[in-house]
Order: sequence, then structure tokens, then C-alpha cells
Amino acid sequence: MAKRIVFVHGSPRKNGNTRAVTALAMEAARQQGADVAEIDATTLKFKVAGCLGCQKCQQSDAFACVLGDQLADTVAILPEYDVIVLSTPLYWWSFTAQLKIFIDRMYCLSKFGEDDGVLSVLSGKKLALIATAGGPMEDNLELLESQWRNPAQMVGCSFDSCLFPDTVVPAGELVNDLAAAEKARSFGRRLAS
Ligand SMILES: Cc1cc2nc3c(=O)[nH]c(=O)nc-3n(C[C@H](O)[C@H](O)[C@H](O)COP(=O)(O)O)c2cc1C
Repeated sequence: MAKRIVFVHGSPRKNGNTRAVTALAMEAARQQGADVAEIDATTLKFKVAGCLGCQKCQQSDAFACVLGDQLADTVAILPEYDVIVLSTPLYWWSFTAQLKIFIDRMYCLSKFGEDDGVLSVLSGKKLALIATAGGPMEDNLELLESQWRNPAQMVGCSFDSCLFPDTVVPAGELVNDLAAAEKARSFGRRLAS
């Protein structure tokens, strides 16, 4: 059966390198037969920027955010997918703020019991990451990778990543680097297989 993959865009630069390599991965995944969707986390409307930590999602049986805005409605559809790919430039050793708001709302998709461990509607899926950075892997981009790999492990997901350090080229031009373009396409095919 075709893999259902959703790519969540976190870069505010529509013409930037992160979205450009992500577009190649999406195209390759589609060509490999995957059912591909995308969410632009930078344009979602919200009542509150991020999670209030109200814990109401933890106290109900539903795996949903009670804030009831477009951000909550969008996070609620994530369990429909087999693979959830975050796409972000590295900002201050981390995700962009726009994407972090989205990630924090994903708290409602798991129940964090004190004794019983974690019960998550994401369990068994794959969480993945596409990221670009102006600087190196070491002590920089690798820190972001662990910030998505560790939660993936905690909620019972597998993990994969496609990372582009040292992307010191003008916006959108990373795809003209043949090795970078093939790396993105190969990642898309891998996610779809
Ligand atoms: C606010 C901001 C923070 C950044 N922080 C980092 C950083 O911590 N480490 C790094 O290597 N590059 C950093 N960069 C550079 C971007 O990660 C890099 O240029 C990225 O490829 C831009 O992606 P885009 O073309 O999709 O916008 C930062 C850029 C901005 C605008």
C-alpha cells in the first residue's frame, strides 16, 4: 500500500533552500508511489502561540488540543499519515519558532502517564527531518537532529533525517548542487519505500 507522507514546512522563506530541497524530496516520494501532502506551519492561524501546558488533552480520552484553532485542527490530522517530515532551517541551534509552535501542540497526540509510560497515536509511524544550516554538523545541526530523534523514540516512532550543513549559497540555489539534489531525492524515495 502507498505510504502516506506529510511534509510540514517550517521555513519562513518560501524561496529558500530548505523548501527547495524539500520540494525535491516530495517529488521523488510521489514518483516512488507515495501519497504526499504538505502543511505550511508558517501560515497557520492560532489563538495561542504554542502550548499553554493546560494538560486538558492529558485529562480527556481524546487525542486533541482543546484550543480549537487552525493549528489544533491541523495537528489533529497528523495520525492519518505513516510518515511525518518536519522541514526547517536551523535557527539558533534549533527549529524555527514557527515550527516549534506546531511541535509543542503535538503534545496532545500522546498521553504521558506517570507510571504507564507513553501512549501515543503516533506510535509505529516514522518521524523524519529535513534541515539546512549555514554552519557545520558538529555541535550545530546534529543538536537539532537529536531534538526530533529523541521525541520520536519516546513516542514509539522510527526516525530518519536528511541534513544539509554548510549551505552558504543564495536562497533556493542549493538544488543546483547535484550532490545535494540527489541526497534530497534519495531521501524522498527512502521515505516512500
Ligand atoms: C534567525 C536565524 C538563525 C540562524 N541560526 C543558525 C544556527 O544556529 N546555526 C547555523 O548553522 N545556521 C543558522 N542560520 C542560518 C540558516 O540555518 C541557513 O542559512 C539556512 O540554510 C536557511 O534556510 P532557508 O534558505 O530555507 O531560509 C540562521 C539563520 C537565521 C535567519
